[in-house]
Amino acid sequence: MNAAKTCWGIYRELEHSPGRIGDDAAILKRVGEALAERGFSVELVAADAADAAFETPRANIFAMCEGGAVLDRLKAAEKAGSVIVNSADAIRNTYRHRMIELFAQHHVSAPWSQVVATDASKLRPPAGVWVKRYDFHATQPDDVIYTASENGWHEALRRFAKRGIPFIVGQENVAGDLVKFYGVRNGVLRMDENWFEWFYHRDKGMVGHSFQASRLRQESFGAAAALGLEIFGGDAIIPADGEPVIIDLNAWPSYARYRDQAARAIADCLTERFRRRLRAVAPTQSDP
Ligand SMILES: Nc1ncnc2c1ncn2[C@@H]1O[C@H](COP(=O)(O)OP(=O)(O)O)[C@@H](O)[C@H]1O
Ligand SMILES: [Mg+2]
Repeated sequence: MNAAKTCWGIYRELEHSPGRIGDDAAILKRVGEALAERGFSVELVAADAADAAFETPRANIFAMCEGGAVLDRLKAAEKAGSVIVNSADAIRNTYRHRMIELFAQHHVSAPWSQVVATDASKLRPPAGVWVKRYDFHATQPDDVIYTASENGWHEALRRFAKRGIPFIVGQENVAGDLVKFYGVRNGVLRMDENWFEWFYHRDKGMVGHSFQASRLRQESFGAAAALGLEIFGGDAIIPADGEPVIIDLNAWPSYARYRDQAARAIADCLTERFRRRLRAVAPTQSDP
């Protein structure tokens, strides 16, 4: 098997795909098919069955997994010369405590947020606040709780402490319309040429504040760049002033509504990343 023309896709762990196991698997498979059409030989594997990918020198890997142990292995493979998209660091940067820090450093438009120890008797921030698990994105309903009272705040902290979760992120509520967005950050394209889609969340009431989609694109790509994500999606609020606020950013979402378009954009991005490395190390070898 020609390792340069082979690539591995790693599925998201089932426990990190609450309610989205089918959609998460479907986008990885669709990307695999699009890469096969582009001349790659593709292997799709579960995060706990990815030894062959990790043991192959200079492997081409695209990854939806998120757990700490497999990210350590991805990082080691990256250091040894494999190309990994999204990178292990970028995936880890979506852990909420890292994300809020990086958003602050890079001046991403995001709500006031703070990491708080769940055993602290800290006063709640003023007004409504979202209490979120500090590391992973929600894997169960109790991972994100809205509280509007002092009692609710302490009860939320107690619930996380009881589950053995030592920290939460407390985040200011942003009033406005919830929008979901999906993007692919292909480094050879300009930001305005990159694939990007957004839509209103069907289950949430909305007012319909007017805003410029180009501002949402700009903030979303800025947020993705701050974390180092190439394949990303997230949530934003459009407040009354029309200036988008990024409240959440995820590595490699399910892209459910736009699977075919997204798969093509992702496959283009991956082809570029895998071939660029090929050209760098073996300029005489023909591209796949
Ligand atoms: N700061 C916020 N302001 C307004 N709504 C929020 C805020 N944070 C979360 N929400 C609401 O809660 C939902 C879930 O929060 P989010 O941070 O996206 O977590 P996850 O995607 O891991 O469940 C959001 O889609 C949004 O509807
Ligand atoms: Mg979200």
